[in-house]
Amino acid sequence: MSSIELDHVSKLYANGAYGVRDVDLSIGEGEFVIFLGPSGCGKSTTLRMIAGLEGITSGDLRIGGRSVNNVAPRDRNIAVVFQSYALYPHMSVRDNMGFGLKMRGVARPLIEEKIREAAGLLGLTPYLDRKPAALSGGQRQRVALGRAIVRDPVAFLLDEPLSNLDAQLRAEMRLELVKLHRRLGRTIVHVTHDQVEAMTMGDRICIMREGRMIQVGKPLEVYADPVDTFVARFLATPPMNLLPARVEGRGDGLVVVGDGFTVEVPQMHRAAYAGLAGREVIFGLRPEDLHEAPQPGFSPIEVSVVAMEALGVENILVGQIGSGEAGGKATAKDAAKPLEISARLSRHFTAPVGARVPLYLDPRPMHLFDPETTRAFPRPSLRLVTN
Ligand SMILES: Nc1ncnc2c1ncn2[C@@H]1O[C@H](COP(=O)(O)OP(=O)(O)OP(=O)(O)O)[C@@H](O)[C@H]1O
Ligand SMILES: [Mg+2]
Repeated sequence: MSSIELDHVSKLYANGAYGVRDVDLSIGEGEFVIFLGPSGCGKSTTLRMIAGLEGITSGDLRIGGRSVNNVAPRDRNIAVVFQSYALYPHMSVRDNMGFGLKMRGVARPLIEEKIREAAGLLGLTPYLDRKPAALSGGQRQRVALGRAIVRDPVAFLLDEPLSNLDAQLRAEMRLELVKLHRRLGRTIVHVTHDQVEAMTMGDRICIMREGRMIQVGKPLEVYADPVDTFVARFLATPPMNLLPARVEGRGDGLVVVGDGFTVEVPQMHRAAYAGLAGREVIFGLRPEDLHEAPQPGFSPIEVSVVAMEALGVENILVGQIGSGEAGGKATAKDAAKPLEISARLSRHFTAPVGARVPLYLDPRPMHLFDPETTRAFPRPSLRLVTN
């Protein structure tokens, strides 16, 4: 049994600061969970509490259904792999991997067998006699993982283990970890800053902010239905466009009106948003939902090109809309540049800086947020939208 449950868990540090506040999370046996959030939001603290390296101030922490609040780290049988792999430089790969078992008095033949298995799994067999200095970053990272695997823990806690690697190695290790999870079937909690890792590796993402877990869900669910403007902007690059606007009734329908744009609320969202008529809101739309060609139901918007970023696979247009006075009156706390928008367009679309170009906005995946609380106004999920 390797489920991990955090039941109203908080960590108050001696200096009076909260590292983690009232976290409620239930991680299933064999689940792969991602912790994502800005620096200082409490990701490592949460991992350290699960591992027992940090005591909890209040709440209950259960592993396999058993409360472990007073159980020492070595008796939790959980492996932690940190960003700095901390290998012993004077020991071979083999000895680095076997050291923990040796310290526990495990018999040499069994240690050898575990090392052989883990090395095979991680592609480290040819390197067993090398010292860490003679390995690449990715190979060292795999040794650190191997050291955890030989212990046969009930769960792996990975604290940004890939952040020291270059982009290509990261991508390779990302796949390796996913494969490893599939083969071992163990619970994994993986902390990352990287959105691609967050979106692609885990069964669920837990988004943290200021010690709290503000949204937990499947990656595409969180992407499609962020609970607030923070999650809306955090999970993608370029982030969701957030624009101050106002909802108005028009005939039978509803429109969202902002500086330089008017969007008709699609039928599918009318019932959910009907009560917002007359209210100030923050209109949210992802850059991929702005298009260069019109389609029935799309709303036109004119933008003045501020920058065009050609990424090869696509072009990102950054444009200014509206009267050009930066900042509207109903500015979202999280909306840094409310009147600049980004659009992910085809790699064939180009326009010079300063040009005014028409774009077309697909209103179906639109979001409306409360400017006071920054919370999303509930509406039917985007996942129900079909083309
Ligand atoms: N020993 C400590 N004493 C006091 N405050 C601490 C201590 N350790 C961490 N903190 C604070 O607790 C908060 C959470 O820290 P934590 O290390 O969990 O963040 P994190 O999400 O892992 O950040 P990063 O992405 O930078 O690694 C931070 O504000 C940090 O300053
Ligand atoms: Mg950390």
